[in-house]
Amino acid sequence: GPAAGARRDLAGRHVVVSAGGTREPLDPVRFLGNRSSGKQGYALARAAVARGARVTLVSANSALPDPAGADVVRVGTAVQLREAMLKAAPDADVVVMAAAVADFRPATYATGKIKKRDGQEPEPIALVRNPDILAELSAERARPGQLVVGFAAETDDVVPNGRAKLARKGCDLLVVNEVGEHKTFGAEENEAVVLGADGSETPVPYGPKEALAETVWDLVARALPPATD
Ligand code: CTP
Ligand code: CA
Repeated sequence: GPAAGARRDLAGRHVVVSAGGTREPLDPVRFLGNRSSGKQGYALARAAVARGARVTLVSANSALPDPAGADVVRVGTAVQLREAMLKAAPDADVVVMAAAVADFRPATYATGKIKKRDGQEPEPIALVRNPDILAELSAERARPGQLVVGFAAETDDVVPNGRAKLARKGCDLLVVNEVGEHKTFGAEENEAVVLGADGSETPVPYGPKEALAETVWDLVARALPPATD
């Protein structure tokens, strides 16, 4: 990132960033989860603090240390993540959904531990859709001029899939990561392209998540309306 105080272009701004991966409980000891480490969202939060922003980090199940100077809100499930984002968004200039949100959750929660039964095959696990938080934040726009940024991981046809997803979600920027077996999840580095609703396309070469974070804030700082207070 920039040297301390070198580029405080987010001073006076409040940014809300989600990070990590949601966990959807099946019973008191089990959940459906994903491999997101939280590294990208935490890098975004640290970079925004360094650039002068007030930062709210909504963290889903990350083991990373709290970024100095950020307000950290811890959540577990997608429904809890939605609540925390909707609570923080009305006061935000920028909302970034870097968290990996479970698309589905178990339809029912067993209040006692699910047990095996002798000679019986297990019941299938029924799933239901989780709310699409990014689409909701994009549609609501808690304040005029608020910027909404999403992330997407794609394995094939990265740009066309990203463009379609950007349009579907209604966000301003979509950071599209190319993923594969050895890319992005838990990795220190990644390669991405940032797509803008205005048709812009900003390639980000393979490199550390900190560099991608700075590029995202560069694009955000350029797109924000002038500060009012
Ligand atoms: N996202 C969200 N709520 C969900 C699912 C995803 O807010 N229920 C957000 C993610 O945080 C990310 C963006 O949407 O910023 C794109 O996530 P992705 O999984 O790529 O998109 P999906 O619409 O779930 O599409 P897919 O079927 O490809 O998983
Ligand atoms: Ca998804």
